[in-house]
Amino acid sequence: MSLTIAIPKGRLGSQAIEMLKAAGIGESIDEKSRKLVFDDEQRNLRFMLLKNSDIITYVENGVADIGISGKDMIMENSADIYELYKMNIGKCKISVAGIKGKKIFKDDTIIKVATKFPETAKKYFNSKGQKIKIIKLNGSIELAPILGLSDVIVDIVETGNTLKANGLEVFEDMYPITAMVISNKISYKFKRKEIKEIIELIRKEDEKYG
Ligand code: PRP
Ligand code: MG
Repeated sequence: MSLTIAIPKGRLGSQAIEMLKAAGIGESIDEKSRKLVFDDEQRNLRFMLLKNSDIITYVENGVADIGISGKDMIMENSADIYELYKMNIGKCKISVAGIKGKKIFKDDTIIKVATKFPETAKKYFNSKGQKIKIIKLNGSIELAPILGLSDVIVDIVETGNTLKANGLEVFEDMYPITAMVISNKISYKFKRKEIKEIIELIRKEDEKYG
């Protein structure tokens, strides 16, 4: 296969796959099957469905030439990859949130922060001079303050529905997020033409979401 493309599973993945299909390059992908690799023989493309947090690892190591990843994962991993195209899908933000009406920020206390983005959280609170203790979780972060595991959370907010449904609110917005097309550095050197062609097809569809 001339190009291997890493696609995330889940919410962002569904949007990305829909876009690829509309762009005429994702026809072979069947999200409902349990298969994880799909070949487009005609276009010489191989698609791999991966967990969101693994896309960067595959691209950085060159197992995938390009991939679609949320900016949240890129920030968290500070990977040695190129960010080639900022997409209009996957728009959300990373925010500090906690129990509604209970915002506590005191310089001299150590705030307990539950998150799946420890590096991003550290960087953010460091820059504010706020001391924190990270509690690393892998999902359902919103439960942490409710159950007393943490004071606040650092997590993705898209519609805000999850926060609301759990009695939480945004205390501070940290960073805006979108999906990005990323590339392995060596792939970009040797397969630049193919990569640019694919990005051009994606861009034409993506602009409709702008
Ligand atoms: C993500 C994120 C928030 C929620 C935000 O969780 O971690 O919990 O979506 O979306 P909303 O603002 O539209 O409600 P996800 O559903 O991916 O599950 P997880 O945290 O358990 O991995
Ligand atoms: Mg969640």
